[in-house]
Amino acid sequence: MKGVDLSVQLGPVTFANPIFTASGTWGYGLDFVDLVDPAALGAVVTKTLTAVPRRGNPQPRVRELRHGLLNSIGLENVGLQAFLREKLPALRERGVRTILSLAARESGEFATMVAELTRHEGWQGVELNLSCPNVAEGGLDFGRDPFRIREIVDSVRQVLPADRALLVKLTPNVTSIADLAVAAQDAGAHAISCINTVVGLEVDLETRRPVFPRAFAGYSGPAILPIALAKVWEVARAVDLPIVGIGGISSVEDVLRFLVVGAGAVQVGTALFARPTLAHDLVKELEESLITRGCASPMQMRCEELGRS
Ligand SMILES: Cc1cc2nc3c(=O)[nH]c(=O)nc-3n(C[C@H](O)[C@H](O)[C@H](O)COP(=O)(O)O)c2cc1C
Repeated sequence: MKGVDLSVQLGPVTFANPIFTASGTWGYGLDFVDLVDPAALGAVVTKTLTAVPRRGNPQPRVRELRHGLLNSIGLENVGLQAFLREKLPALRERGVRTILSLAARESGEFATMVAELTRHEGWQGVELNLSCPNVAEGGLDFGRDPFRIREIVDSVRQVLPADRALLVKLTPNVTSIADLAVAAQDAGAHAISCINTVVGLEVDLETRRPVFPRAFAGYSGPAILPIALAKVWEVARAVDLPIVGIGGISSVEDVLRFLVVGAGAVQVGTALFARPTLAHDLVKELEESLITRGCASPMQMRCEELGRS
């Protein structure tokens, strides 16, 4: 059998392969250049950027558990301007396909940030991280309200250049993730990133209190794989957009599982902390696995029941 075509199309942008890094788990894509070439990945998704730098939440912020990781980082980041000045030029020079993860304090700020981005080259798309509190609305997540999602996606599409991709990252911590995906599709999103962390809590038996100052934290890693697969399946049945599957990936079989339930690409997250080169290995292993299974493209792994997207 001839080689496999690993390329994946998200809206107007073609990525050479469907293995991306997940936001917040591989820095800004430049930390491991002595080990691996970030340009060999389908794309790097940056740590979520905000309009102004954020210091994040007080310690403790991370707890490793038996089957996963709890984190309450609180969107610590260098801020959009510093990223554009100090990181983007290096990513661009290296030919890294870069997707900027963005978060905002209120709905209108997403479009303002994207408008600022249009003055810079060297990025292929944005991923809206909608799982953050909306300050203007008393701390409610934008990402749980289909109306707000529609409004935000619509406003971003109006300023996004025609040759850039718009990904919308959804939280699994809702009753119907499908309703949120439909709202994003209706407003013009190019792809759905699915899922962000699952809400969790760890207890300190000595103090008899939650470990994290804010009590709740985000759970990730192998334990959430079946949850993520269920959410991707649910979204795949509801929309015609490409889905970027995220959650608990640690092997090529996990990548294949996401392809079966309807993902066109995947992001590797928590597993990168233990093995920063894993995403690179998965590109190679995915190609070999698809050849072994007689598939000419990742799409051919998709469960027949879902039809073609
Ligand atoms: C330490 C840590 C920081 C994260 N930071 C972000 C972030 O800034 N923005 C975001 O959209 N997701 C963030 N995530 C969520 C991941 O991108 C991913 O959606 C989630 O961890 C599930 O994938 P995984 O199980 O492969 O890690 C973070 C996850 C971890 C573990």
